Amino acid sequence: MSESIVSFEHVSKSYPQYHQITGGIKQFLFNLPKAVRLFKTARYLALHDISFEVKQGETFGIIGRNGAGKSTTLGLIAGVLKSTIGKVSVKGKISPLLELGAGFNSDLTGRENIFLNGVLMGLTRKEVANKVDDIIEFSELGEFIEQPIRVYSSGMLARLGFSVASSLDPEILLIDEILAVGDITFQHKCVERMMSFKQKKVTMVFVSHSMESMVSLCDRAMWIENHTVKMIGDAKAVVKEFVNQS
Ligand SMILES: Nc1ncnc2c1ncn2[C@@H]1O[C@H](COP(=O)(O)OP(=O)(O)O)[C@@H](O)[C@H]1O
Ligand SMILES: [Mg+2]
Repeated sequence: MSESIVSFEHVSKSYPQYHQITGGIKQFLFNLPKAVRLFKTARYLALHDISFEVKQGETFGIIGRNGAGKSTTLGLIAGVLKSTIGKVSVKGKISPLLELGAGFNSDLTGRENIFLNGVLMGLTRKEVANKVDDIIEFSELGEFIEQPIRVYSSGMLARLGFSVASSLDPEILLIDEILAVGDITFQHKCVERMMSFKQKKVTMVFVSHSMESMVSLCDRAMWIENHTVKMIGDAKAVVKEFVNQS
C-alpha cells in the first residue's frame, strides 16, 4: 500500500459571514453592542466534516457545483487556509496556488513572480533562470510577462499559475479549473503536461468541470455537494453518479 500524502480527518472550514445591516443604520447604531456581536459571530460553513486521503503518485479529482467547497479544499491542502475543525496532514513540496494568492504578489511583474515562486519552492535564482523562458513560453503571455500581474485577466493569471506550478518540480501539484481558461490548444498542452506528471508518479489534486478529463486523468475522485462529501471512489464511477444527478 503506498503512502498517504494528503490526509483530511473530519475537516470543517467556516468563514466569517458579513450580514447586511437590517432594520436600517439607525437601529444598528442604537443596538450597537448586540449588533456587533451578531455581526462578528455569524459564520459561513464552506466545508463540513470532510475526510479523505490521497496516496503517493495518485491523481485525485474533486468535482461539485460552483460554491461546493472545491477551491477551499485545495487551499487547505496548500496551507493557505487553516481548518476550523479537524486535521489536515500533507507530506511533500506543494506547488504554489495562484488562485488563492499564495506566493504571488500583484505589484510584481509576471517574470518577477516566477522568480519569487521559484525561490519560495527552494530553487536557486540560477535554477529559476534556466526555466524562466520555458515557463513564459508555456503561459503564452507574450509581452504581458513584463507587466504587474494586477493588470492580468483571470485567464492570464490562471495560465501563469499553471505554468509556474507545473514547472518547479512540485511533489504535489494542485490544479484548480485550469481547463476552463485559454483556448483548445492551451487546454491540450495542460492535459499533456498532467499526463506526463501522472507517468512520473507526481501526486496531483485536480479540480475541474471537465468530466472527460476527470475520467481520463484521475484514478479516484471525490464529489462535494452541499459542502460535504457526497461520494469518493473510482473516478469513472463518481463521475457517472455526478452526471446522472445533475
Ligand atoms: N474568503 C471567503 N470568505 C467567505 N466565504 C468564502 C470565502 N471563500 C469562499 N467562500 C464561500 O465558501 C463556499 C465554497 O467556496 P469555494 O471553495 O470557492 O467553492 P468552489 O471552488 O467549489 O466553487 C462558497 O459558498 C463561497 O462563497
Ligand atoms: Mg473554485
